[in-house]
Amino acid sequence: MKLVPKIDAEKCIGDAVCEAMCPDVFEMGEDGKAIVINPDGCGEQCDCEEVADACPTEAITLKEVEEE
Ligand code: F3S
Repeated sequence: MKLVPKIDAEKCIGDAVCEAMCPDVFEMGEDGKAIVINPDGCGEQCDCEEVADACPTEAITLKEVEEE
């Protein structure tokens, strides 16, 4: 199983802590909301559960997917 992050743009307030913690996975878009630039980036480089917990509005959800 691996975790794939998703941003709920309705909830995102542009706090940018996600980008600060994992710049390889999250990036701030031009509209001031985060986007996932690398859905496969969770793992050793980036603890996505920690990032999801750190987001102040819980805009990041993690989906478990089967690894191929
Ligand atoms: Fe938005 Fe949360 Fe990141 S508010 S910019 S998803 S830390």
